[in-house]
Amino acid sequence: MHIEMTEQQMRTRGGLMDELLEKAFDAAVIVDRDGRFVYNTKGSLALRGLALEEIAGKYYWEINPGAKFHTTLESGRAQLGVIDVVEGRKCLVNIFPICCDSQVIGALSTVLFKNLTNLKQIIAKLPETHGAEVDNYNTVSRLATSYTFADYIGESQAAKDVIQQCRLAAQSMRPVLLIGETGTGKEILANAIHAEVNRHVWTPCIKINCSAIPDNLLESELFGHEKGAFTGAQATKIGKFELASNGSILLDEIGEMDLRLQSKLLRVLEEKEFERIGGTRLVPLKARLISSTNADLRQLCREGKFRSDLYYRLAAFEIHVPPLRDRATDIPLLVENLKQREQLEFTLGEDALRVLMQYRWPGNVRELRNILSRLDIKYRGQQVSASAVQRELEQSIDYEPPAAQTPQTTMPGKQTDAYARMDALLEQNGHNVAKTARELGVSRATIYNRLKKRKNCKA
Ligand SMILES: Nc1ncnc2c1ncn2[C@@H]1O[C@H](COP(=O)(O)OP(=O)(O)OP(=O)(O)O)[C@@H](O)[C@H]1O
Ligand SMILES: [Mg+2]
Repeated sequence: MHIEMTEQQMRTRGGLMDELLEKAFDAAVIVDRDGRFVYNTKGSLALRGLALEEIAGKYYWEINPGAKFHTTLESGRAQLGVIDVVEGRKCLVNIFPICCDSQVIGALSTVLFKNLTNLKQIIAKLPETHGAEVDNYNTVSRLATSYTFADYIGESQAAKDVIQQCRLAAQSMRPVLLIGETGTGKEILANAIHAEVNRHVWTPCIKINCSAIPDNLLESELFGHEKGAFTGAQATKIGKFELASNGSILLDEIGEMDLRLQSKLLRVLEEKEFERIGGTRLVPLKARLISSTNADLRQLCREGKFRSDLYYRLAAFEIHVPPLRDRATDIPLLVENLKQREQLEFTLGEDALRVLMQYRWPGNVRELRNILSRLDIKYRGQQVSASAVQRELEQSIDYEPPAAQTPQTTMPGKQTDAYARMDALLEQNGHNVAKTARELGVSRATIYNRLKKRKNCKA
C-alpha cells in the first residue's frame, strides 16, 4: 500500500491533500527519502510543542528518534497501526511510503489517535461491548497513554511557574512531591514529569492510590510477595515498585499511608533495594518516585501521623500546584479546552464567564469540568446566562457560598440537593465511595470531605 505522487506534488503546500491531513488526523508528517521533514500539520507541531521554524529542515530523528520512518523508507512497505512515542505519549500511527515511478521518495505518517484514551472512550461507547470489543477495550486501555505538559492547560503566571518547576524536577531522577488541593491537576503533572524524562522511549509509569487499598494489602501491592508468604498468597506477585523498574511510580494520596509502611518505604528509599514479602532476594529500586497529596504533610508530621524523615526524602522537589481560584484568568482558556475535549456545545457570554472566574472552586478543575458537562446537558446548543451558571454552581456538590469563610453550622440550602444526590447514590452503591465518586464525577476525597463536613455541621 503506497501513495503515488511526484516529488513536486509532495513538496507543494496548501492543496486538498494538506486540508485532508489537517482535518482527518490528529497529526500528520511527511518526510523525504532522506528522512528530512517536508511537512508537519498544525496538530503535529502542537503534539510536540514546537513551532514550524524549530522543525523546518531537520531530520525526523533529531526531533523524534523513536519514529519508524526508516523501516518504510528502506522497505517501501506501509506500517499500519504501529505505536509511536511522541513526547512520552503513545500514539497509534500509520506510515505509508510515497512513491514516484516505483521509487520511494518519502513517507507519510498519520497519527490516528494521539491519545489512546480517546480510542478507549470510543470503544466504550459502542452499543455492543462484549466479545471482541471488550478485548479491544482491554488492549487499548493497557496501552492508553497518559498526560504531557501540553495537557496542563493554563497561561497564567501561576500555571507557567508550576510547569517550569515540574520540568526542572523532571531533569533529575530525585523524588518529587506534588502538593495541591483536590482536582488541581496533580495527576496530569505527575504523568507529565514521567513523560518528559521518557520522551522517545516507552517506560512504565505505575500508579497506586495509597488511600484506596487497605493498609495490610498495600505493602504487598507495593513490594510484591512470594508464594505462600502469608495466608492467601497463592502465587508470587510482583509489586508496583518492581513493575515500575526503569520508569516511574506514582504514589497518590501518600499522606494516607500508615506509619508502619512509611517506615518500610523510608528504609527502601535509603537502601535503594527491597525484598518481596516472604522473599530472600534483594530487588534493586530502579523506579523514580513521584508522590502526590492534598493533605498538609507538614501538619501531619507535627501531629505525628507522618514521618518527617520520610517527608524530607519524598520532597527532594516539593511542588505546590495552585488552586484554580489562584489562577482564575485561566478559566476562559480551560472552558474552551474542556468544551472541545468533551465535545460540549453551549456558549458562555462574558458575564457568565465572570461568574465562573469569581467562584472559589473548592473542587478546582474537576469541579469546573463537572459544571460544564452539566451545563451541556441542560443548555446544549444555547447561550447560557450568568444567572443559569450561578444556579448551577450553587447545585455543585463542592459548592461553598462566598461568605463561607467562617465554620458553618447548617448546610447551605441549595447544596442539600447535591448532598441528596450523593446520599442516594451511596445508598444505591452499597456505600461504595469509589463507585459513587466515579458516577458523580468527583474524587473520593471530595465525598469523604463532604461527609466529614456534614458531620461537623450537625455536631
Ligand atoms: N490544568 C489543567 N488543565 C486541564 N485539565 C485539568 C487541569 N487540572 C486538572 N484538570 C482536569 O481535572 C480533573 C482532575 O485532575 P487530576 O486528577 O489531575 O487532579 P488531582 O490534583 O490529582 O486531584 P485529586 O487530589 O482529587 O486526586 C481531570 O479531569 C483533569 O483532566
Ligand atoms: Mg490525583
